[in-house]
Amino acid sequence: MRVIIQNKPEEVAKWAADYIVSKIQAHTQQSAAPFVLGLPTGSTPMQTYAELIKRYRAGAVSFANVVTFNMDEYVGLPEEHPESYHSFMWRHFFSQVDIRAERVHILNGNAPDLMQECASYEERIKQAGGVRLFLGGVGPDGHLAFNEPFSSLASRTRVKTLTMDTIAANSRFFDNDPAKVPRQALTVGIATVLDADEVLILATGYNKARAIRHLIEGGYNHAWTASALQGHPHSIVVCDTPAAYELKVGTYRYFREIEGIEH
Ligand code: GLP
Repeated sequence: MRVIIQNKPEEVAKWAADYIVSKIQAHTQQSAAPFVLGLPTGSTPMQTYAELIKRYRAGAVSFANVVTFNMDEYVGLPEEHPESYHSFMWRHFFSQVDIRAERVHILNGNAPDLMQECASYEERIKQAGGVRLFLGGVGPDGHLAFNEPFSSLASRTRVKTLTMDTIAANSRFFDNDPAKVPRQALTVGIATVLDADEVLILATGYNKARAIRHLIEGGYNHAWTASALQGHPHSIVVCDTPAAYELKVGTYRYFREIEGIEH
C-alpha cells in the first residue's frame, strides 16, 4: 500500500486529479478501448472532481473515452432528488465534462428487482473489461462504498442496510434529520472494489483519523471494511495530516519520507 500524506485537503485533491489524469492519458496512448473508472460520492471527492473539471477545461484531459461505474446509490430515493447519488454525480462532475451519458453507470436504487439490478451491475463491469482505477472515500466507521462494518470482505454488489452511524453522518445532507435518510442502499461489494487494477482512497479531516489508522495499521478485518485494501496489490491512500493524526509517529514519518515529503 502506498500512503501519501499531504498537508491540506486541496493538495489531496490535486494529487488525486493529477494521478487520475495521468492514468487516463497513459491508457489512451496504449489502447482505443475506453478507460474504466470507478467513482465515489461524498464530500471528500468533491474537490477532486473540481480539480478534474479544471484540467478538462484547460484541455489537459478528455472524458469522452471514459466509462464510469459509481460505487453506490440509496434505495427508494427518486433519481431527481438532490441528494440521490445520480443527482450528486451529474451536478458535481458529469455535467461539466465531456463524458458521454451512455458511458455513465450508476446503480438504480429504484429498480423493480434490486437483486437483479446488482447482478447486472457486476455483469456490466465485466463487459466493460473491469475497472482500471477505483476512486473511493472512507466512512468514519471505516466503510468503503456502503460496505458497513462486518460486511464480508468477499462481498459483491448487493443491498445493504445502513448503520445508525452512517445514517447520522449522512443526515447532514437531509436537513440534519436522520429520519429523512434512506435506510438501505445498493453498493458494490468489497470484492468488487478489490477486482479493480488499482484503488485510490481519499480521506481528509480529523473525523477520518480513526478509520485511517485501522485501514493502514490495523489488521485485515471486516470490522473496518476499508482495511481489505491491505490485500490489494495496488492500493493508494491519499490523505491530509488531520486524517493521518492517529497514525503512529513512525508510520507517519515512514510514509512521508518514502514519498519525499518534507516534515
Ligand atoms: C458515504 C458514501 C461513501 C463515502 C462516505 C464518506 O457513506 N457511501 O462512499 O466514502 O459517505 O463520505 P464523506 O466523504 O462525505 O465523508
